[in-house]
Amino acid sequence: MIPESFIQELLHRIDVVDLIDGYVPLKKAGANYAACCPFHSEKSPSFTVSPTKQFYHCFGCGAHGTAIGFLMEYSGLGFIDAIKELAGRAGLQVPENEDRRPHDGPRVTALTEVMARAAKYYYEQLKRSSKAIDYLKGRGVSGEIAQKFGIGYAPEGGQSLAAAFDDYGATELQAAGLVGKSEDGRLYDRFRDRVMFPILNQKGEVIAFGGRVLGEGKPKYLNSPETPLFEKGREVFGLPQARAALREKDTAIVVEGYMDVVALAQHGVGNAVATLGTATTATHVQKLLRQVDRIVYCFDGDAAGRKAAWRALENSLEALPEQKSIGFVFLPEADDPDSFVRTHGREGFELKIAQATPLSEFLLRELAAHCDMTSAEGKARLVAEAKPLLGRLQTPLLRLQLVKRLAEASGFSQAEVERLCDLRPIARPAPARAPRQAPSLLRSLLRLLLQRPQLGKDLPLDSLPDNSAEARAVRQLCAAIAASGDPPPPYAALLERMRGSEDENILREAAAELMQQPFAEEDIAAEFEGAVQRLAEGGHKREFAVLQEKVQKLGVAGLSGEEKLQYLQAIGVRSPAVKPIR
Ligand code: UTP
Ligand code: MN
Repeated sequence: MIPESFIQELLHRIDVVDLIDGYVPLKKAGANYAACCPFHSEKSPSFTVSPTKQFYHCFGCGAHGTAIGFLMEYSGLGFIDAIKELAGRAGLQVPENEDRRPHDGPRVTALTEVMARAAKYYYEQLKRSSKAIDYLKGRGVSGEIAQKFGIGYAPEGGQSLAAAFDDYGATELQAAGLVGKSEDGRLYDRFRDRVMFPILNQKGEVIAFGGRVLGEGKPKYLNSPETPLFEKGREVFGLPQARAALREKDTAIVVEGYMDVVALAQHGVGNAVATLGTATTATHVQKLLRQVDRIVYCFDGDAAGRKAAWRALENSLEALPEQKSIGFVFLPEADDPDSFVRTHGREGFELKIAQATPLSEFLLRELAAHCDMTSAEGKARLVAEAKPLLGRLQTPLLRLQLVKRLAEASGFSQAEVERLCDLRPIARPAPARAPRQAPSLLRSLLRLLLQRPQLGKDLPLDSLPDNSAEARAVRQLCAAIAASGDPPPPYAALLERMRGSEDENILREAAAELMQQPFAEEDIAAEFEGAVQRLAEGGHKREFAVLQEKVQKLGVAGLSGEEKLQYLQAIGVRSPAVKPIR
């Protein structure tokens, strides 16, 4: 295998701008270079190349990579061949080295190929299955829409995929989640007798499937497991198909089901995507808000739908930048977007979308519903319940708006609401450099590390929370930085080092943000210090939560002497004296 140091050397010698310009003529655009993207069709250029960071990124389709990645994508070369080709251009000799690359899991490209082949196979099987065709027809899906979404059919047999793959036993089939292994070692198709919905990434590659039973049966939808290609909380169904409509409408409609997206498209509403049987995550929100200015959640009209909407709200707060907006549509009980659009048509549905409830209103209404708003205690409770939500907002305007409404509803003054909710001013970058989106703490930390990898050596890793994908990416990145010598290599080399790792996507996103909005060199040190401090504060909060839980279970007597001291100090600082309510 090719040693890491050679890859670094190669990326150092080759200028990604020169390389790409040889294939796709680039134009200077500010600090970067731009062109119409060679990886998807578009009329205005969203393909951007950074000369300082030596990578490209398409803001339309998400294509992203280094000089090596570009050759692989553009010319269809494998990793080794792309390196050989670049080495030839740079006049370097590719060294031989027997070491395996450390993070070589099942190769992502191999899995992508497997998924593409399976999708093609399922798609062809649909044409041969009259019962699957009848099922889709019965649900009002035309051939054209079935084709647009690549809908297929997985036949009944236990090993149907053996017809599509020479080696049914290949580990990639299992790693891609297409084939399972029973306890006695028998291999079998995961998807049998199901209508298949391929889930595509931004580049249009199949990364997973959802398979629906025809008619009744459990589970109604069987989904691919998470694989190196597929992380549920990051992906939505229908994104590449929606791209043109998203641009046209500047709004993304987020629904719950595969069939909702398909039925909406069938009725001419092309800008809908679905989360994949999971709550909407901050990552989903960020991903969508990069393409549109408005998200409208449209969930089912039942209790589960309301709950899903509330989760979506919670997870949107942090990711919600200024100038972007979020709305909620609640369909009549017993309707979902699919049934609604079939009864009321495109116009009826679009009217609902236009009349969506604004985020602030939904938030207040839901909170007030838990509190007895006729009593002083109830009003105080409203403010207390709003506190954690307000704390997550990164946008001063929306926060102010909410504080005002809370004040009206509770009878506290605005200043009192702010104090009770422990609100501190939100640190704002200068307006001229206002970011496209307000990044979370970990996001901005990632961007700082990508801009100046050296900082990775000063980051206290134990202050990172342990439950988020972003924190994991920060850890991985720091590990890569620590392992790559001194001084650490620039972004492009780190990206190659993390090729195929689970955290690659987060890094790509952070790097793309950085491309649009680099930190000013003179601000970096202070930004980093601020981030480390906020991390430490977060750590204290988590420690406090642990203590508090203990107290609830065991009482204060259950704490050790030191814990008791910590706890008392913490509540001394934390609980503001409760003011009598007017
Ligand atoms: P719903 O149960 O609301 O189904 O699940 P639906 O979308 O209306 O499906 P149809 O119209 O009966 O075909 C919403 C979404 O939750 C996930 C799927 O992503 C589904 O689209 N889900 C649901 C599963 O992953 N597994 C299940 O068994 C059920
Ligand atoms: Mn449905």
